Amino acid sequence: MRILFIGDITGKSGRDIVSSLLYSLKQEYQADLVIANGENSAHGKGITIRIYRQLIDECVDYITMGNHAYSKAEIIDHFEETDHLIMPYNHEKRTQDNYYAIISYKDMKFCLCNILGSVLMPESVMDPYTAFREVVEHTRQYDPDFWFVDLHAETTAEKRMFVEYFKDQAKVVVGTHTHVQTADEDILNGCAFITDVGMCGAYDSVIGRDVEETIRANIEKEKTRYTVAEGPAIFCGVLIEIDEKEKRPVGIERIQIRPE
Ligand SMILES: [Fe+2]
Ligand SMILES: [Fe+2]
Repeated sequence: MRILFIGDITGKSGRDIVSSLLYSLKQEYQADLVIANGENSAHGKGITIRIYRQLIDECVDYITMGNHAYSKAEIIDHFEETDHLIMPYNHEKRTQDNYYAIISYKDMKFCLCNILGSVLMPESVMDPYTAFREVVEHTRQYDPDFWFVDLHAETTAEKRMFVEYFKDQAKVVVGTHTHVQTADEDILNGCAFITDVGMCGAYDSVIGRDVEETIRANIEKEKTRYTVAEGPAIFCGVLIEIDEKEKRPVGIERIQIRPE
């Protein structure tokens, strides 16, 4: 089985590059399943029901989120119709059990979940280690072969430690949130891992945000609104190959397409 995981889709530039590339990438990489992080898909923060439907229509099978999961409050009113939207387990605003999905493929079954890191992450109410132990406890009843974790966290060490600690259960751990793709993808102790997948968003930006505004807000300390950068986008993802008989990952490959 081949799973294409797409990094944080950020604003319109990010949505546009996913729209234009996803169909051909899915063919090229023969992906059986597409998972995308959509926490920044609606103007840089959160997701709307319109964008959820659009991404699902464009062949994204599941959408994971992050610290901005609840930034567009309207999505909460649509939880009944968003059963392929995976919210972070340890987010302070989570009230529903929509933090996992059980995905079956041939004779294999795995649990997809979304967990926040605790370092520099004010929205997190629980460290990722306790959170994942609880997710495993709650979802063990479905008897998954392994857990696939979108670990939405800031620091490299927290993400790497997570793999070392949970390698027997979490066979895939993809880091998201920093928007910068790291070059450390590997199978570590049987777990397909990358510290951060990177983003799909405007290349000329500060992790997806307008450059001038970021400078005014952070260096010149001006009061600003949040403005997503526009323009040609970078596409970042990873392709994970799972051996269905062995029920374990056998490959992880980085995908990064920069604008010309
Ligand atoms: Fe993000
Ligand atoms: Fe984030």
